[in-house]
Amino acid sequence: MTQTSDGNHLKKIPSPVKFPIVGHLPYVLSRQPFDRMLQLCERYGDLFNLKLLDDSVVIVSDPDVVEELFDESRFRKRVAGILESIRPIAGDGLITAEDHEDNWGRAHRILKLGFGRKAMSDYLPIMMRQTEKLIQWWRDRPGQAIDANQDFTRLTLEIIGLCGFDFSFSSFEQEEPHEFMLTIDSILAEATISHQLPAWVNQLRPGGVRRMKENIEATNAVFDKIIADHHLNDSKERSSFLALMLDAEDPRDGSKLSKANIRYQLITFLIAGHETTRSLLSFTLYYLIKHPEICRKAQSIVDEVLGDAPRDLSFQDLSRLSYLQQILMESLRLWPTAPGFMVSPRSDTSIQSKYSTTTDDIFFIFLAALHRHPKAWGDNPDSFDPDRFGADAIRQRPSHVFRPFGNGKRSCIGQHFAMTEAQVALTYILYHFDLQGDDSYTLQVDHSLTIKPKDFFFKAIPRSK
Ligand code: HEM
Repeated sequence: MTQTSDGNHLKKIPSPVKFPIVGHLPYVLSRQPFDRMLQLCERYGDLFNLKLLDDSVVIVSDPDVVEELFDESRFRKRVAGILESIRPIAGDGLITAEDHEDNWGRAHRILKLGFGRKAMSDYLPIMMRQTEKLIQWWRDRPGQAIDANQDFTRLTLEIIGLCGFDFSFSSFEQEEPHEFMLTIDSILAEATISHQLPAWVNQLRPGGVRRMKENIEATNAVFDKIIADHHLNDSKERSSFLALMLDAEDPRDGSKLSKANIRYQLITFLIAGHETTRSLLSFTLYYLIKHPEICRKAQSIVDEVLGDAPRDLSFQDLSRLSYLQQILMESLRLWPTAPGFMVSPRSDTSIQSKYSTTTDDIFFIFLAALHRHPKAWGDNPDSFDPDRFGADAIRQRPSHVFRPFGNGKRSCIGQHFAMTEAQVALTYILYHFDLQGDDSYTLQVDHSLTIKPKDFFFKAIPRSK
């Protein structure tokens, strides 16, 4: 036990009983790791420490502790666990860079321009055209049960490919996923496995390590070609993150991003920018099917804004469709598709003036539990209620209890992009279709880098207008 300057004694962060040698590993090993984490929070509370292999991770969902951890002068983003395992492919790209790495600051300053109002007005038509392709894809398959994750992957992958680097994965031209995405998926699957295993076990899996190396080389080659082709064509003519990165200079010192770093950024956008939004749409449709009254209300607002004939949406239309944003936020509250993020103290310190903590400690802010904490969300936190995101309700609540896009300077650079893309898709879907689910379906959640509803199918019935 240590003592603070004001004489208080500091305790260690509480921890469940450990198993010999393997520590807390058996607590988290499960076919449903995400559900298991929620159960652990119910059982061990909103602040507890788990010793997992080489790392000690503190799982946090108490809003008061979270508020303290969001103080960026005391805590910094931590690149550990799965983020560390994807460093070989994402390098010092935005999501896997440490705060102090030069390229984080440089890329952040340059890429911020790529998410401003002007850039978004270039992306909006791409989002609409790709959503129209999805609508047509469903019209061409009448009565077919739609695999939500699969079809929303088509949409979000096309949007990030076209807006990011002017590249189509031909998702609406073929049933099967693009070969290149299979390579990326295989890298992510290997990263997920390897970060769950001790280093010495990974050394006994030379096949996995070799496959990972080959897949990374293949991915790098594809992106190097995309960058070279873009460079040859006049990139000034195009609006994409890639064109921006090739042209723009860091406003601070006039430097540019290196080709290798540009590649890391593109891979980062691909990884960070499609699964999260895909799953947001899947969870949202799940809830709309479960709550037909909310779905009908949203449809009537969409009908009023769009009128008798489908047409392009303007930003003004999108602000009139704010109820759809409320629906999306409520879905992100219950199932934050990036389920958490990690921070560490900048120097040895105390938490809540009660627990001692050092710079080695990793705090995992477990969003699904924070977003349902009764201290912040009342007696019925599991219920789906978009009115929680009405303007007055938001004003009355502290902002740190809802952080699906992370915190502070390391929060999601693509959040406005993602919400616009999801809002456009939801608008056109509700305008064109009634949604029909399978009454026997029970929600289960699959967990890799992101979370998604498992085996969720629905039918899209064309609306008679
Ligand atoms: C619903 C969709 C999305 C969710 C829930 C989400 C969530 C998050 C979260 C929680 C973080 C912080 C990670 C951390 O602290 O370790 C983050 C960072 C990031 N996201 Fe997103 N994201 C979404 C969509 C997107 C999209 C569409 C893009 C790209 C177009 C994107 C690009 C990034 C990048 C580059 C970062 C790293 C920012 C930095 O550290 O400078 N995300 N995202």
